[in-house]
Amino acid sequence: MINYSIKNNVAILSWNVSNQPMNVLNDESIAAFKSSLEKAYADTDVKGIIITSERPEFVAGADLRMLLKNNQLPAAEMLDFSMQLHTLFRSMETCGKPVVSAINGTALGGGFEIALASHYRIALNNPKTKIGLPEVKVGLLPGAGGTQRLPRLIGIEAAAPLLLEGKESSPEQALKLGMIHELAQSPQEMMDKAFAWITANPKPLQPWDELDKKGNIKGRDNYKVPGGNVQSPKGVQIFMAGTALLNDKTKGNYPSPLAIMSCVYEGLQVNMDRAMKIEARHFVKVAKSSVSKNLIRTMFFGMNEANKGASRPKNIPATDTKQVGVLGAGLMGAGIAYVSAMAGIKVILKDVSIENAEKGKDYSRALLDKAISRGKMDRLKADGILSFIHPTANAADLAGSDLIIEAVFENRDLKATVTKESEPFLNENGVFGSNTSTLPITGLAVASAKPENFIGLHFFSPVDKMQLVEIIMGKDSSDYALAVCCDYVKKIRKTPIVVNDSRGFYTSRCFGTYSGEGMELLKDGVNPVLIENAGKNAGMPVGPLAVTDEVALDLVYKVAGQAVKDGVLAESDTSYQMGKKFVEMGRLGKKSKGGFYEYPEGGKKHIWAGLAELFPLSANQPIEHEVKQRLLYRQVLETVKCWEEGVIRTKLDADLGSILAWGFPPYLGGTLSFVDTIGIVAFVAECDRLAEAYGERFRPTAKLREMAFVGKGFFE
Ligand code: NAI
Repeated sequence: MINYSIKNNVAILSWNVSNQPMNVLNDESIAAFKSSLEKAYADTDVKGIIITSERPEFVAGADLRMLLKNNQLPAAEMLDFSMQLHTLFRSMETCGKPVVSAINGTALGGGFEIALASHYRIALNNPKTKIGLPEVKVGLLPGAGGTQRLPRLIGIEAAAPLLLEGKESSPEQALKLGMIHELAQSPQEMMDKAFAWITANPKPLQPWDELDKKGNIKGRDNYKVPGGNVQSPKGVQIFMAGTALLNDKTKGNYPSPLAIMSCVYEGLQVNMDRAMKIEARHFVKVAKSSVSKNLIRTMFFGMNEANKGASRPKNIPATDTKQVGVLGAGLMGAGIAYVSAMAGIKVILKDVSIENAEKGKDYSRALLDKAISRGKMDRLKADGILSFIHPTANAADLAGSDLIIEAVFENRDLKATVTKESEPFLNENGVFGSNTSTLPITGLAVASAKPENFIGLHFFSPVDKMQLVEIIMGKDSSDYALAVCCDYVKKIRKTPIVVNDSRGFYTSRCFGTYSGEGMELLKDGVNPVLIENAGKNAGMPVGPLAVTDEVALDLVYKVAGQAVKDGVLAESDTSYQMGKKFVEMGRLGKKSKGGFYEYPEGGKKHIWAGLAELFPLSANQPIEHEVKQRLLYRQVLETVKCWEEGVIRTKLDADLGSILAWGFPPYLGGTLSFVDTIGIVAFVAECDRLAEAYGERFRPTAKLREMAFVGKGFFE
């Protein structure tokens, strides 16, 4: 765990948690670290301590699995555990011997907190090394002194983005910010510098400590924080503006940034020993919250699993797409070409004319120019990426493609034509993917000579920004085709979810309920401002009416119209009727500069005044919570139905898809995690209440009732 050696009267504690993929702080490694430190403190021959690592990283942070386990403990036990860690780290500062961290690689979270509790920090100058406190990203706060030592070291203002956004720094940036003391160019130089510092500083004191009358180290009561204390004019300004900004950003849904602010505000007014207790209490509170559990489970472990290919068939050997054909150089095709070229894949970008195809390539050119102007890309590299994209109007140029992705107009006949035209140019065993947003894959596969190699590859707009790709299995799509797509999605560094064929697949179907419930609320006479604010305050990125305007009301009308025609939706359906009404008025949404909102030239969009006449406000406006419930429960219930119908294959894909595709709030862990967060019994009861009040669309399924009966949620 911790290799212990002595050299020139210095104890070297080298982290080597060999039973984990990385050096992490867990029950075992903390105990080993503690006993190594105690051995060094007790050995009178040891004049100083160097902490470093045997592995490429220094220490990558706390073991989140341990945290998930520990946050089941009663609060008092967790507090105790937290304080033991604080006491251990504090002992490094007060042991009377110089302690140096020789940061040979990434030092994040608890890893950087070890370094912060050392008297001196030297980092190996490797630009790949990351240094920082990213706990906020998983709903936590730095719980081993980070909220106290970092602002004391570099000031409140400089520490704020590092603590509140979890920004990570390279060693050079960390040096500039004052997070470390110096850089070393080689491991040898790093160790030499560590030894030299120990020799020169036999009795170091942290800036926030002093000696009492007996010569013992104790925390200073009135430590002057660089840049001003919390109650200095600057400090007051930071806390007043910062708290308001954070409340606006988090809408009260994410407790950890505000808890971090509290730790800094309260902790910096007292000495270090008392400050640690303050931090520990706040830590326990956020660690026990459902928010951190959800973020750790879905956004950390879930995302890692999905990116590693959790949904990829295991029995198919790895494939490598070296050339992709993209049909249609419009909005989506151009984006798909860009992300493929960025991953070093040769792209044949085909449209009906060479001009159209070139225009599609210009999209990449524009994105790369922007990156160059921001200093994120150099011309040489950009030219290299562009050289991967070959615009053409000739289907024969697709020859040699491992994968062809079709992104032509949403028209069944056209899609059949291009499938037949281009499929012969695929490599043997090549795969054909359709980026259709609405047409069932099984139906489109009819045009294919090899339906087993035909599959859905649903990207989201804008392709360069949206991380998710929804892979859709048609009736005949093979595991091989799925494996090729999973490998390709991984290569372009996106996250895949895999779903079965169905109307609207998974994501469009569930997303539609958010927009749909917004329209129901409007029909019920709820104030549109309340509807929009409730959506955003619940954590959705945009209000349901605004997002419907963005999607466009003619599309809503068209999709609902098709469902009515196919007999799966009643003609009285609100989305259908409202879509129809707005199309008749020529108010198609953002693209026609008018929908539920007005989009004045050069001005800010605002709710269209005409809504007041069309949908008179009811005398009894609901409270915001009720509107939130309606908006969230509809999305969740639709996901549950997709799960029960076998549209979704794994619960993880359901959760990740909901967050990455249509912006279901991450703090809720995704649509299925939502049920567990509320508790299955309470969830079913609330569905019944909503169904009585607003209609059968809220009625829980029989399966949900069974689950409630046995008291078992989705993830228990
Ligand atoms: P678009 O209208 O921007 O582009 C379609 C392109 O296909 C045009 O450049 C057109 O010239 C080209 N095209 C037409 N016939 C062709 C042929 N025979 N061979 C090659 N190219 C041909 O459309 P957009 O928005 O890029 O959509 C494309 C597909 O992606 C549609 O199926 C759409 O439903 C789907 N989709 C769209 C999303 C969006 O947000 N726009 C999101 C996800 C999927």
